Amino acid sequence: MKISFVLNGKTTEINTEPWTRVIDILREQIHLTGTKEGCGSGDCGACTIVVDGESKLACLMYAMQLEGRNIETIEGLKKDGVMHPIQEAFVDYGAVQCGFCIPGMIMAVYAFLQKNHRASRKKIKEAISGNLCRCTGYEKIVDAVEAVAKNMEKRKKKPLSLKMPQKHSGINPFLPERLDELWRLIDGGSDISVYAGGTDLLVKLRENSPSKKIKPICLERMKELKTVYESEEGIFIGACSTHSELLHNPKIQRRFPVLIKALKSLGSPSIRNMGTIGGNICTASPAGDTLPPLYVLDAKVEIRSKAHRRLMPIREFILGPGRTALEKGEILYGVWLDRDINFNIHHFEKIGQREALTISIASLAALLKLSEDGTVEEARFAWGSVGPTVVRSKEVEDGIIGRPFNRETLRDIVSVVHGVISPIDDIRSSAVYRKKLAGNLLFRLLK
Ligand SMILES: Cc1cc2nc3c(=O)[nH]c(=O)nc-3n(C[C@H](O)[C@H](O)[C@H](O)COP(=O)(O)OP(=O)(O)OC[C@H]3O[C@@H](n4cnc5c(N)ncnc54)[C@H](O)[C@@H]3O)c2cc1C
Ligand code: FES
Ligand code: FES
Repeated sequence: MKISFVLNGKTTEINTEPWTRVIDILREQIHLTGTKEGCGSGDCGACTIVVDGESKLACLMYAMQLEGRNIETIEGLKKDGVMHPIQEAFVDYGAVQCGFCIPGMIMAVYAFLQKNHRASRKKIKEAISGNLCRCTGYEKIVDAVEAVAKNMEKRKKKPLSLKMPQKHSGINPFLPERLDELWRLIDGGSDISVYAGGTDLLVKLRENSPSKKIKPICLERMKELKTVYESEEGIFIGACSTHSELLHNPKIQRRFPVLIKALKSLGSPSIRNMGTIGGNICTASPAGDTLPPLYVLDAKVEIRSKAHRRLMPIREFILGPGRTALEKGEILYGVWLDRDINFNIHHFEKIGQREALTISIASLAALLKLSEDGTVEEARFAWGSVGPTVVRSKEVEDGIIGRPFNRETLRDIVSVVHGVISPIDDIRSSAVYRKKLAGNLLFRLLK
């Protein structure tokens, strides 16, 4: 398959299998070896490249996704023999040790500084939270980035401008843009499966050596699946909306802080730029971070096939770990949320082994409506990672209604919580710890 794109400012055409990983194209076919492969599963950031101005991971993208995109790699930063200011600062501040993480680190910073002129130390740390340095030179890396950011601010220089992506022409058989194109492709073969950001699928295929018979089609360019709008039915979120897009959407920020809080804690900046809400739902992991908020928001999912459209509550859609109610020929089209959500407290917290890039040991989403004197009028709680699917319990929610919202009330319902959850032991935590944590997470609501 021929694929054309702009690479470091030059139009580039390659001939390759559509499902070759981008990291392999860059390193093996184009011989740009600056982009490194550390983990191959999205966890280290060594393979970070910039796609249309956003940081993405070359180990979790297929070649066909490059079509018509503007790709920047570390090799493109040095211009006319002069290093980029970020590269200079890394040298000046002694931020480079063995150097393996540095190209990915610099590309993550490069993408970040395009959009964030005023970068605090905290923001810089967040921006590189998906990039691991095994030499642990983080302080000097942050010093270097802070210096570049300050210089940019001082000079009031506009961020470096990006070349616009090349427009691709014709229908791409692996990247449908409209529903009719997708149905045609699905009709055309029994060996077709769909994916969106690939941040779950590519990791899974790598671990389970893919069956060559399955042909994944990417939905990331389906405009209908990327919109957020309001109608009589509620607020619609297209399944292929990325976590970053939702985080920056004013409608979602205003109406659903509980979802925003969960999105902020999901993965890393690059994972959020790639991963989608639909992918998070369809993966149906008990640790999926958007799920507890969607359960307390009583989300409904919209499922579509060529012939029909159906709606169902998310709690009926998710059947168990990795299992959903999707049938052959169907896709998740989007999520519907109630317009009239009216709670004083929107809360989400997840506990993992570290702050970024962490899978939850337990999480809690909560919505509370309190009267003026602090009595609980309505309550919704959903726990993640403490059972095969997200846990919501009427017993717990009813048990708190009419009571004052204080430590004593919460202490009383903790024992009810312990009765309704059944966590397991796994690599991240013991069942006993999870159970204790699930109850204790309630007390954080008092903050
Ligand atoms: C390093 C790393 C860190 C991560 N951290 C977190 C985290 O902190 N919290 C968290 O919750 N998750 C995390 N994830 C998991 C993942 O990023 C999310 O679940 C993400 O939302 C998946 O979205 P996607 O679009 O990339 O899914 P994809 O990989 O594209 O798809 C996942 C599955 O869903 C199916 N699918 C996707 N979209 C549709 C659709 N519209 N219709 C039908 N089927 C569909 C695919 O067939 C596939 O089986 C992490 C992943 C990685 C690699
Ligand atoms: S190689 Fe580690 S994130 Fe891609
Ligand atoms: S400098 Fe060695 S891994 Fe970061």
